Amino acid sequence: MPMTRRGMLRGMARLGGAGAVYETLAAWDFLKPPPAMAASLALPRESGQGKTVAILGAGVSGLCTAYELDRAGYTCIILEPTRRAGGRSLTLRRGDRFQEMGHDAQECTFDDGQYLNAGPGRIPHHHVHVIDYCRRFNVALEPYIFASRANLIRSGTPEAGKTRPVREAYHSLQGHVAELLDKCSRRPELELPIGKDDLEKLQEMLVQFGDLSPADRSSKNTAYSYKNQHARAGYERPPGVADPGKPLSPLKLEEILRSNVWDDWLFRDGEVYWQTSLMQPTGGMDMFFKGFLRQPLSRQLGTLEGLIRYGAKATEIDVQGDRVRINYVDSGTPRTLDADYCVSTIPMSIFRNMKTNLPAPFMEAAKKLPIMAAGKVGWQAPRFWEIDANIYGGISWTSETIDQIWYPSSGYLSATGVLTGAYMRGDAAVEFNKRPVADRLRIARQQGERLHPGYTQHVQHGLAIGWNNMEFQQGGWADEDAGDFGPNVQVLAQPQGRFIVAGDHITFWSGWQEGALLAAWHAVAAIDKQVRPAGGG
Ligand code: ALA
Repeated sequence: MPMTRRGMLRGMARLGGAGAVYETLAAWDFLKPPPAMAASLALPRESGQGKTVAILGAGVSGLCTAYELDRAGYTCIILEPTRRAGGRSLTLRRGDRFQEMGHDAQECTFDDGQYLNAGPGRIPHHHVHVIDYCRRFNVALEPYIFASRANLIRSGTPEAGKTRPVREAYHSLQGHVAELLDKCSRRPELELPIGKDDLEKLQEMLVQFGDLSPADRSSKNTAYSYKNQHARAGYERPPGVADPGKPLSPLKLEEILRSNVWDDWLFRDGEVYWQTSLMQPTGGMDMFFKGFLRQPLSRQLGTLEGLIRYGAKATEIDVQGDRVRINYVDSGTPRTLDADYCVSTIPMSIFRNMKTNLPAPFMEAAKKLPIMAAGKVGWQAPRFWEIDANIYGGISWTSETIDQIWYPSSGYLSATGVLTGAYMRGDAAVEFNKRPVADRLRIARQQGERLHPGYTQHVQHGLAIGWNNMEFQQGGWADEDAGDFGPNVQVLAQPQGRFIVAGDHITFWSGWQEGALLAAWHAVAAIDKQVRPAGGG
């Protein structure tokens, strides 16, 4: 299923409450950063003294929970089943190894300095919690280009089984739509619901919107027409010395319509979270969670990373009136941890099968929460996309399985770079990720070749990661668009006595680090409310 999240607002509306805020489509408010971004949760420094919290998972949500609770005086222990922190925030560099369940182990063989963000790879400007922690932890951000008109688009339909620059498809379509609307606006019998003055304004606007050419006053046709006169859709011959160049003949409207390139790919940068430019931490997305790891603890020597017990896999959660007992296996040895509170960030695909004494409707909600698969392929290559296609960042789109190719937004003009050679989600990812790694790389090469002739020869050091194949994730993220998401997330977001779920999967920013942080704050606030019933927020 193409991942559009167009249903996000609809889903929120169904929830009512906070959703209603979105229902009024305060999209503009939504875009506006909160006027006073909280510097922290601001719990009193010693408010958690003497209380212990077991945090399950050292991903972004678990780390943020630990950071905020530590500042408020709580004693935190993070149980992390793998040997690394970050969860799905995984940046692969030379020498890094990983293994999917049932597949061969892979090792990254990129050159030193090259990396693939195998999990999250971008930060929108309105993800203020992520940005605020970056500011606090001195994590440098740089632009991440989502969309450049130089990027390519390829539809497999016979009408347009051709690779074209986004510019050509986008502006041709915009021009034709403007021309049609202009024509309609001149037909009184259509009785458009707009006053005469505004209609004139609309017509003026359409000229700008679609780069329409003036009407041919000599003919009876007073409507404007689209001819790509200013070459928004591209040049057949670029301008030169004493030569204005020759604009391309625009693509025909029918051709664009039948190609289906408008069905998702062309307009993805219109989504609120995927604008034309976003941000990324300089040097890799892992710089973000490493910011948490290096924070000094508030009441003892050491850093936040010291709170993590690596290789500790929780197996059972027993919530009592006065404590939570966690059974876990620490490098093969069964152990027990008693804590005053427990915050679990364990992905729902795993949590739902765990032994717990939580109420049946809660575990039922965990079972029903829809989780979608995701997969990526990464390559190192000489920067042929810069030399052959004038592409400097952004994403090319294809209707084939790989769905998209990301180009690096940094290191321009250097010899090599890392491409995200495929990024798919949902059913397409399930099917793709079932294949052996070598097969996935072969397909990604072949499909990339149809966007960039010569691709097969250029791309090297391939890696393929299917997040649903990873033992401690078993999925990409929760699917907010699925009908089951809203009602079940309402249940899962409710504290169960001393047990609270965190993680992006309980937010409508599922699949985003911002969601992980919002859920962490939610968990911290829920604990504070129990510890300080009168004073808490
Ligand atoms: N956060 C994910 C992305 O940007 C869904 O693709």
